[in-house]
Amino acid sequence: MGPALLLLLAALLGGAAAFRVGAFNARRLGGGKAAREDVRGALGRIIARCDIMVLQEVVDAKGQVVPLLLDTLDSTVGPGTYQALSSHPLGRGSYRERYVYFYRPGRAQLQDWFVYEDAHPQRPDVFAREPFVARFGLPSPALPELVLVPLHAAPAAAETEIDALHDVYERVQERWGQQDVLFLGDFNAGCGYVAASRWGRIRLRRDPPFHWLLGDDGDSTVRGSTRCPYDRVVVAGERSQSLVVPGSAGAFNFTACFGLTEEQALVVSDHYPVEVELALDRAWGGGWHPPLALLLLLGLGGALLGLP
Ligand SMILES: *[C@@H]1O[C@H](CO)[C@@H](O)[C@H](O)[C@H]1NC(C)=O
Repeated sequence: MGPALLLLLAALLGGAAAFRVGAFNARRLGGGKAAREDVRGALGRIIARCDIMVLQEVVDAKGQVVPLLLDTLDSTVGPGTYQALSSHPLGRGSYRERYVYFYRPGRAQLQDWFVYEDAHPQRPDVFAREPFVARFGLPSPALPELVLVPLHAAPAAAETEIDALHDVYERVQERWGQQDVLFLGDFNAGCGYVAASRWGRIRLRRDPPFHWLLGDDGDSTVRGSTRCPYDRVVVAGERSQSLVVPGSAGAFNFTACFGLTEEQALVVSDHYPVEVELALDRAWGGGWHPPLALLLLLGLGGALLGLP
């Protein structure tokens, strides 16, 4: 095959414009931890896989983590490739966590954001750490905007918090009228925190607009001794759902990918990041791209005829 055809195949199969979104519970990530060379290196590589990545469990009263990680990304990926947006520390008592978005401004334009006002008349103060909702503009006629709703649920309240994401969805509708919404993060959605029999009561699971991309048999934990689908990605909206690259949603096993021991991986986190890819270049709704298909056929024809 000629080099042109290889490039074309790579673009078609590799999804040159595939857009990756991820969420990662970075396990009590404070300034001291983020300053460790090994932790920074791993976090930099994990973030750099994604166009938008939301870190959870950032315990950083002084705001040291974001500058450290941006510095790492500037030197490893390129200056200014990433920007960050951090919530204020969220929580009920003195223990508080931030949600922090890292995103590529060249690929995702931050438009607006808010912390969910946790004051639903029937369900006041459900969330330990209210979702930090953000809306991004994307370089795609197929999906011009996407709203992200990250959640790090408190284990003991996982069921009610996941259910209340439905209220957050309604709030997003009232505020922006945007139906393309990705819910993501450590929902503590399994292993005793949400019993299998309870799923039918959880509106985010039961109601039609929501599609769960990671199943109950998954595992987003680093420890070999545990198998729990804590971290999830849920998509709402016909457009965003139709652009999900089949098979792309899953936990990213950085132990295996970075060649770490379990002990080394646990220094970074006890969770794996969860990710999903969206085929933003797919403007025709279906799984096929007519101009690329035509080019591919021409290229194959050329290759068969022995043209360069
Ligand atoms: C991740 O990779 C490690 C090392 O290859 C393996 O032992 C472990 O089972 C994997 N974990 C998951 C959840 O896939």
